[in-house]
Amino acid sequence: MTGEHRAERMRTPGFGRVLTEHIVSITWTADRGWHDAVLRPYDDLRLAPACVGLHYGQSVFEGLKAYTLADGRVGVFRPDAAARRMRRSARRLAMPQLPEAVFVDAVDALLQADRAWVPSRRGQSLYLRPLLFASEADLSLRPAHEYTFLLMAFVTDGIFEHQVKPLRVWLCEDHVRAAPGGTGEAKCAGNYAPTLLSQQQAKERGCDQVVWLDAVERSWVEELGGMNIFFVMGPAETPRLVTPPLGGTILPGVTRDSLITLAADMGWPTLQQPMSVAQWRAACAGGEMLEAFACGTAAVVTPIGTVVSTSDEWVVGGGAMGPVTRRLRDALMNLHYGTAPDTHGWVHVVPGTG
Ligand code: COI
Repeated sequence: MTGEHRAERMRTPGFGRVLTEHIVSITWTADRGWHDAVLRPYDDLRLAPACVGLHYGQSVFEGLKAYTLADGRVGVFRPDAAARRMRRSARRLAMPQLPEAVFVDAVDALLQADRAWVPSRRGQSLYLRPLLFASEADLSLRPAHEYTFLLMAFVTDGIFEHQVKPLRVWLCEDHVRAAPGGTGEAKCAGNYAPTLLSQQQAKERGCDQVVWLDAVERSWVEELGGMNIFFVMGPAETPRLVTPPLGGTILPGVTRDSLITLAADMGWPTLQQPMSVAQWRAACAGGEMLEAFACGTAAVVTPIGTVVSTSDEWVVGGGAMGPVTRRLRDALMNLHYGTAPDTHGWVHVVPGTG
């Protein structure tokens, strides 16, 4: 592909539409384990209509991003953490676990081949999407005997890059995303499809995202489906963060984990403690909650401005991006783009991209 054609495709990339030219594929079978790792041109798959992944949802995925660092090399943010989470997700769905080193090698191979697709403009990135699904054609309801790992990559501006206003979020009080003992903490395909109807309903109410509540009492805030949530409590000079604790129903976000550390670097403690809707509403009314934001690989750090429920709506803080959210967002993005020292060893530099 010519540089000109590539630049044209990267101009308005959306999310998952502008794929690069290669993928990595690795097969697992019960008799041979992991084998046939190959880098090949991006192309359509041939799948059996009776493929288990399509019917029973034995499918897990990941999301991580690559950036052109300030020194021109390519950096990937915390690929080891994504690899480990994919292993945990796979375990939950009775799937084979790809070794962490093989995962990182696949990331390196793809980025070396598709180096030209890694954007250098701040705000843009190359999103890597590892996918593992049961590819066996056999519809017995048991763990499959054959799986396919695919690593693909696409250019993106981020899902909220063109969102000028802070998020307006919808409290979903009828459906639930995850129940205790379920798969909420796994990054599996089946956690996403059931959220789409509520997301559609949120849109109809002029909201950008759904806030998911716990399945038992329907009163505790959990996450936003594709992203985690943080609350910033006052006083403004010494803020403290609150984020719901991981208890099996919440996705353990790599961005969530990174922000807890970055906040600590700034002297801001994070309390991993439950926040109810009533507490959220009261803290905003009483002025103790100054800010709230969503975070994730795709979402980065995005402020929440307004909360809408069936009975009322309220504004968080000033309804705009506050200083704590901004500082955390900047600190994270400075690491992504290599404009701040990588003191936590989170940036994996792709060999041969210097
Ligand atoms: C990510 O942030 O990488 C995600 O996987 C969320 C995505 C489903 C939009």
